[in-house]
Amino acid sequence: MRKVNPFKPTAGAEPPVLAGRDAVLEDFEIGLEEGVGAPGRLMRITGPRGSGKTVLLTELGDIARRRGWRVVDVTAADRLPELIGRRLEKSDGVDYSAELDLMVVKARAQKDEPRRSEDIYEAMNRVTGKLTEEHKGLLVTVDEIQDASVEDVREIAVAIQHLIRERRDIAFVFAGLTAGVMNLLGEDGPTFLRRAYPEELSTIPADEVEATLRATFEKSGVRIDEDALTSAADSTAGYAYLIQLVGYNVWRAAQVRASGEFDAISAEDVEKGVVVARREFERTVLEAAIAHLPKMAMEYLVAMTADRLASSTGEIASRLGVPASSLSTTRKLLVSRQIIEPTARGYVGFSIPFMREYLTKNREALLARYGVEG
Ligand SMILES: Nc1ncnc2c1ncn2[C@@H]1O[C@H](COP(=O)(O)OP(=O)(O)OP(=O)(O)O)[C@@H](O)[C@H]1O
Ligand SMILES: [Mg+2]
Repeated sequence: MRKVNPFKPTAGAEPPVLAGRDAVLEDFEIGLEEGVGAPGRLMRITGPRGSGKTVLLTELGDIARRRGWRVVDVTAADRLPELIGRRLEKSDGVDYSAELDLMVVKARAQKDEPRRSEDIYEAMNRVTGKLTEEHKGLLVTVDEIQDASVEDVREIAVAIQHLIRERRDIAFVFAGLTAGVMNLLGEDGPTFLRRAYPEELSTIPADEVEATLRATFEKSGVRIDEDALTSAADSTAGYAYLIQLVGYNVWRAAQVRASGEFDAISAEDVEKGVVVARREFERTVLEAAIAHLPKMAMEYLVAMTADRLASSTGEIASRLGVPASSLSTTRKLLVSRQIIEPTARGYVGFSIPFMREYLTKNREALLARYGVEG
């Protein structure tokens, strides 16, 4: 029978084997165990696109659920506190909104008051009150939090902080793009959330990537030898999405070579699979990130490729022959699109693996889009 490809190179899809997350999962579990005030109960997860933020939120939710906690997962949208409130109305199977609506109708009939439903504090207070009595709790997770407004995030933070003071069992985990989250928590952001346990999803160590690739193949009854494994792992640069993308395409290469039946991965399968994975990565991640940039932004990126490590912003300006101050809007745009990030004061680096190589390889064609000679 034809084996099913186990790898999952799709946003948000649970990988068959999780790489590099043991420590954070354990810290979270300890947080639930230790009780009110434990650091693992308030967590912020940051990282570039495809680094595994959504998957990690799902894993944390699973841990909480296994302990009998109620879990509410939302993705940032307009009026986030109301969205969470609505989920809490329904999350225990009882629809409180009908009951509340009835109360509101009565109140309005009596006093002609404007319609009002629970605010987020009241909703979380009601739910955690019951759960805490049962020695369980409530986990709220917010994904893509960089898209939420500061006001909404502050409202949620204030409610949670109050509930912690009232010794309720509540945990809050939020995830988003690094620069966006830092912005949100910046100067006028809620200080309470700035102190959340930080988990930055940077490069996963090579040995963990190797172990994950091997385990994923072996779970499906397929062997891979050391050399092939090392070269597959190297080609992922420790980036979560690439682990799945490389694994997926190596598997496919083996399938094509063996016309379906195979029980081992050869060095040649890895070689072929990696080429396809890289091409796919260029198309779906790298090209997507830099498509439709203004001309100056593209020139800025190309100017950065002259450096092997971080680039000095002053140096970039002199390469482009313009005053450094004229590039601040461009730099901000590139940071907000998560293409580059500040690495130290006055220095920037690429946020996405293989971006430098991609820009170097396609320099002429990229600049030609703007009528500039490479
Ligand atoms: N720890 C991990 N080990 C192996 N693969 C992983 C891991 N985490 C995520 N992946 C895989 O990486 C890909 C991206 O994961 P995910 O969607 O969680 O990233 P993300 O950071 O939320 O991305 P985005 O910013 O685009 O929402 C998926 O294919 C997923 O299966
Ligand atoms: Mg995501």
